[in-house]
Amino acid sequence: MSVNQSLKPITTTYKEHLFIGGCDTVELAKKYGTPLYVIDEATLRGICKDYKNAFKEYKNIRMMYASKALCTSAIVRILDEEGFGFDTVSAGEIYTVYKSGVDMSKVLFNGNNKSKKEIELALDLNVGRFSVDNFYEAELLNQIANQKNKKVDILLRITPGIECHTHEYIQTGQIDSKFGFDLNTIDSIIELIINQYKNLNLRGIHAHIGSQIFELQSFYDEVEILIKELSRINKKYNLNLDEMNIGGGLGVKYTEKDTPPNVKDLADAITRAMHKYLADIPTIYIEPGRSIISTSGVTLYTVGSSKTVNINGKTKRYIAVDGGMADNPRPSMYQAEYVAEGINIEKLAQKPKEVVTIAGRYCESGDILINEIEMPHLEPDDIICVYNTGAYNYSMASNYNRVEKNAMVLVNNSQSDIIVNRESLEDLISHDSIPDRLRK
Ligand code: LLP
Repeated sequence: MSVNQSLKPITTTYKEHLFIGGCDTVELAKKYGTPLYVIDEATLRGICKDYKNAFKEYKNIRMMYASKALCTSAIVRILDEEGFGFDTVSAGEIYTVYKSGVDMSKVLFNGNNKSKKEIELALDLNVGRFSVDNFYEAELLNQIANQKNKKVDILLRITPGIECHTHEYIQTGQIDSKFGFDLNTIDSIIELIINQYKNLNLRGIHAHIGSQIFELQSFYDEVEILIKELSRINKKYNLNLDEMNIGGGLGVKYTEKDTPPNVKDLADAITRAMHKYLADIPTIYIEPGRSIISTSGVTLYTVGSSKTVNINGKTKRYIAVDGGMADNPRPSMYQAEYVAEGINIEKLAQKPKEVVTIAGRYCESGDILINEIEMPHLEPDDIICVYNTGAYNYSMASNYNRVEKNAMVLVNNSQSDIIVNRESLEDLISHDSIPDRLRK
């Protein structure tokens, strides 16, 4: 089993309380307050090892963590120590990675509308690869690189025309997509690069077919398409492109229904496709985000109010917690499902079980974290743990309703350390400015 196949952090244990990373979650909630993001270092390092073991026979593999899943300085340090490079999509991610001491040649800059400022920063910091997404960007990048007297190593982002059975919003490989060149336009951009864009050094191609993918066949098909495309391009233009970036996308287990594949089987699918067509395996980049960080993260919330409604003779109980759609927008955006349990194990074991709906504290009806889950009877001040919140929670968090963003702690070997401070009320107003004529 690889770590992405586990619903909970691998260090999860049950005593009188729930323990993660050797830390008593009741104590964590007391010490740092709730809502609290908790990241288990052993789980994070565990999945990194799974990826490294799975691909260890393939010397030309470059593993790049898709930092959009969760990008904080401490997380970057861990991934850097584990030997990962970084897929970045903004000046903010590039800057975080840079300030964390990463060798910038191991960084790739991705995105469908990189600004001039971002391109300049990436060039000044010597980011290793640009994944060029469209005609406008190619021209702009060439022009800025020319001004800076630099030659940039690039990949071309293509849409291979694969549809994955995942949520519609997170399909990116199909033809009707805002990302990349479709297979009909790729030759035109290559000709521009060969004939005009002298500051661009084309190294290979890049695709990403979606996220939370369970079917290995999709990756196999993707690799097959990319190999054929790469050899077609090399033959037609007499080039020697030898880099392929196959993106991220491996799924995780949010609920018992989810059956994500083992990382080893992903590696086998990718390399089986390679071996079928090629004697020499080119440099392959993979960019996993969710499967790297999701399982290591949980969120602790405190229960507050509750409400029971009667619908056609059936009762439904809402339990409201102190966080919700601003710290985890995934349920309201994608109907994503999560599993939770009370952390005061001994005390809650005595309580009768009931089906409840866990609601957030934000002012809209759609702010429901979990619809209908069986829980022991919860009361105000009880604390619950929502599992698998490491990916795309903090990174998509907002200050909706002017609420301070959660703190994040890293747990390991019974030790806990703050890695993101909780925002304060002062932080919330720190970027505001009042014109003189409105001052009191
Ligand atoms: N590479 C590229 C070019 C991507 O666009 C993405 C994710 C990744 C790698 C990483 O994919 P992963 O391994 O995490 O599946 N906010 C959504 C997910 C959006 C994913 C966007 N691209 C969610 O919460 O489900």
